[in-house]
Amino acid sequence: MKTALITGSQKGIGYETARQLGRKGFHVILSGRNKEKLEQSLKTLMEEGIDASMLVMDVSDDYSVTVAAEALAKQISKLDVLINNAAILMREDEKVLQQGNEVLLQTVNTNSFGPVRVSRAFLSLMSDSSRIINITSEGGSMSQPVGGWSPAYCVSKTMLNGITRNMALELQGKGIAVNAACPGWVRTDMGGASAPRTVEKGAETPVWLASEAPQSLTGRIFMDKKEISW
Ligand SMILES: NC(=O)c1ccc[n+]([C@@H]2O[C@H](COP(=O)([O-])OP(=O)(O)OC[C@H]3O[C@@H](n4cnc5c(N)ncnc54)[C@H](OP(=O)(O)O)[C@@H]3O)[C@@H](O)[C@H]2O)c1
Repeated sequence: MKTALITGSQKGIGYETARQLGRKGFHVILSGRNKEKLEQSLKTLMEEGIDASMLVMDVSDDYSVTVAAEALAKQISKLDVLINNAAILMREDEKVLQQGNEVLLQTVNTNSFGPVRVSRAFLSLMSDSSRIINITSEGGSMSQPVGGWSPAYCVSKTMLNGITRNMALELQGKGIAVNAACPGWVRTDMGGASAPRTVEKGAETPVWLASEAPQSLTGRIFMDKKEISW
């Protein structure tokens, strides 16, 4: 049975991704920073008959990530899929020149350094045929006419795209595929009620990258299971 760890998966796209991978026969590890919320989500998932467990981990904190990685290494010998899904979009994130550096620092620490921190900490559990999927956003694109909203968030996803490309190159020799997935604008706490897409649709591309996409695909960005430009 393959194992997938999804960060920030007690709700939203991460939770739905875990559910869909669980239905495909994966053992899924829900992860988040709040133990009680995780327990609740895990219970719901297990009631659906999904093989799941949970791992408390705050992706913005080195110590928390290290402790979580050490704990998981005692439970499993191989991590087949890591989905770096956890992210924040701060309410104060409105104007890059008018807000203090704190918003940018905090956002980048979670959304860009988080995936690096987590990938590094869990790397010893990954080997040939493992897959890392970073959840990015159209807001991070340098080639589409997007931007002008939540600048710290958009910049953090641009950085994540660069990180994806560089991690892919670094891990090519080990046979580990690293790609980014764009869920589109999805109805979640982050996306809001006006978003046109369901969580099922948002989870579609990460699930495909985790399970069906050719292992040889690496260093790319996908939306609706098709490669898009950065
Ligand atoms: N929704 C959209 O329209 C949209 C569009 C493009 C990209 N995305 C991306 O899709 C991914 C999922 O977003 P979503 O819409 O599902 O958002 P969401 O409903 O707000 O869920 C985000 C998840 O990340 C967790 N999280 C935040 N900071 C964390 C940390 N430091 N450590 C661990 N977990 C943390 C949250 O946990 P707490 O409950 O503890 O905060 C929550 O479980 C994100 O990467 C987002 O940027 C979303």
